[in-house]
Amino acid sequence: METKTLEQSFSAYFNAKPEFIVRAPGRVNLIGEHTDYNDGFVLPMAIDHAVWIALTPRTDFTVCIRSLDLDVDSVFDLQSLSKGEGWSEYIKGVAYFLQKTGYELKGFNAVMTGDVPRGAGLSSSAAVELATARAFAAGSGFAWDAAQMARISQKAENDWVGVNCGIMDQMASAASRKGYALFLDCRTLEYQHAPLPENSSVVILDTSTRRGLVDSAYNERRNQCEEAARWFGVKALRDVSVDEFEKRSGLSEVVTRRARHVITENARVLEAVQAMKVGDVQRLGELFNASHVSLRDDFEVTNEALNQIVECAQSQPGCYGARMTGAGFGGCAVALVHAESTQEFTNAVSAAYRKISGLDASVYVCKASEGASLVEGENRT
Ligand code: GLA
Repeated sequence: METKTLEQSFSAYFNAKPEFIVRAPGRVNLIGEHTDYNDGFVLPMAIDHAVWIALTPRTDFTVCIRSLDLDVDSVFDLQSLSKGEGWSEYIKGVAYFLQKTGYELKGFNAVMTGDVPRGAGLSSSAAVELATARAFAAGSGFAWDAAQMARISQKAENDWVGVNCGIMDQMASAASRKGYALFLDCRTLEYQHAPLPENSSVVILDTSTRRGLVDSAYNERRNQCEEAARWFGVKALRDVSVDEFEKRSGLSEVVTRRARHVITENARVLEAVQAMKVGDVQRLGELFNASHVSLRDDFEVTNEALNQIVECAQSQPGCYGARMTGAGFGGCAVALVHAESTQEFTNAVSAAYRKISGLDASVYVCKASEGASLVEGENRT
């Protein structure tokens, strides 16, 4: 994204130069799926697809923001926020919970644009939320606290927009570092930046399938995990080790499988971080593959297209491992590929997937990007 283009759009609309430009990325999860709402571990990375906002603060409480992609604007008053419909609900929700937490906000004039594919499971909504939080931090002059901003953004998504997500997407967008994945403890929100293996590429494979009713299936999985935690007598499944899990029996068959996924997935994340530290890309790939099997057979959140694209990916030379990523039921898979094989890999997977499914995949070779940041302008904190 050229900040020049964004500046020009702002100028065309507001007749002045913007004072700030902020950016917040989408994310892909490398491993640790459906573990965040079990107080567990995740390993996402911010991708080089993001949302940008150019803004100038106002002296009153009005927010006037234009979506360049949708070609519409939204105007609202920070002192009388009420729920409505559409893209600006993410912005209003973040504003509402920032104020509720005690932040004093100024209004702003802004234009917004983004290139995170929508609805693909790459957290375009978290990118909008964190870009909004970053815009308010710059415009209203308060310090950036990644974990706090992620929590507020999650609250906006849960209680304003009404989507029951965990904390992973918002933390990945808020706290990631260029060139690294984010190893996050979803209970404490402590994190470390884990180095990505050298000579390898992270490739996102969008199946182009989208499934409705994801929300209800997602909530059903959450309820099953809570049921398992109650049965084990712990706060969350994070508190059950693989050994403890194997010693116990008597939980219903389906809930046992759900719990097994979460418990083994947490162990896989810890092992993946170790593998990354020592540069063992083979092992990392194996963990990707094992994660997919667990999500397919135990957690049952894949669909046929995801299974097909993962198999197409895994059977290519140069592929260390592949798995579905995100909530599942459609959307994207992620593959770890030898850098030199990347071009061949993307061509071969696209062709093989088209042959087997009749569908066209979108493929993104991704770089790990920086979390939410101020791209232009001086923070006045
Ligand atoms: C969605 C949610 C996340 C997480 C994943 C599954 O992306 O937004 O919080 O639960 O599903 O790992």
